[in-house]
Amino acid sequence: MTGRTVFVTGTDTGVGKTVVAAWLAATLAPHQRVALVKPFQTGAVDPAADGDEAFYRAALGDEAVDIRTLVSLPEPLAPSIAAERANEPIDVAAALVECRALAKKSDITLVEGAGGLLVSLTAEHDMADFAAALDASLVVVARPSLGTLNHTTLTLEAAERRGLPVEMLVISGFPKDAGVTEWENLRWFRDRYPALPLVVLAEAPLAPSDPLAGLEPHLLGPIPPVLAGRGLPTLDLPAQSSDS
Ligand SMILES: Nc1ncnc2c1ncn2[C@@H]1O[C@H](COP(=O)(O)OP(=O)(O)OP(=O)(O)O)[C@@H](O)[C@H]1O
Ligand SMILES: [Mg+2]
Repeated sequence: MTGRTVFVTGTDTGVGKTVVAAWLAATLAPHQRVALVKPFQTGAVDPAADGDEAFYRAALGDEAVDIRTLVSLPEPLAPSIAAERANEPIDVAAALVECRALAKKSDITLVEGAGGLLVSLTAEHDMADFAAALDASLVVVARPSLGTLNHTTLTLEAAERRGLPVEMLVISGFPKDAGVTEWENLRWFRDRYPALPLVVLAEAPLAPSDPLAGLEPHLLGPIPPVLAGRGLPTLDLPAQSSDS
């Protein structure tokens, strides 16, 4: 029986998709067979050493997770552009076959995109097409800071237009000294999307020795199906304040 596929996308590059994908894998692996895939890595020569896979491996240690990078391109560019410049066209169909094969032998397959949801893979396909072809639900990763409301809303609207269900929104890197901007952004998300599970990960040291320490996951809103039974503590929003 084929397991579920969850596609980890974000509002931008560098927002925390790798951190979130590794955290989800670590959270689920003690209970389920988990695969963790970076199908299209750019800006890496040896992905197990300098790609997102390196973070996965450091974060997951001895945890039994099937970790893969499928396509790797050296320049840190959108996949379609990196592929064109390297003269190595991306074989989207082959990547789909590999992801589906992993999903067949896993309970959950976590697939990390590159950049945001509408980044192109080829002239014809983008990340959203890839997620749709995998019949995946989305985890959308966003920043806590100013500008995140617009980027996140654009991403959620694009997901809806493409018929992609959103499993949860994850705000990654929530600062310890959060002020009005970060707290009010959380309140806005909760009020605007009351049915959308919202997970908040704290700003953590991401130390190479223990990269997932200090993320302190908290839940706002309903529990996402993928985390059912994992007992995430609820985040209490502070009363509206005027400090900044
Ligand atoms: N919870 C967090 N705590 C501390 N820093 C974070 C956190 N989440 C994200 N960051 C910061 O964002 C950076 C990028 O994170 P990450 O590599 O997960 O992004 P990404 O979206 O996967 O990027 P890419 O598009 O390159 O795959 C990290 O190196 C770190 O500086
Ligand atoms: Mg990444």
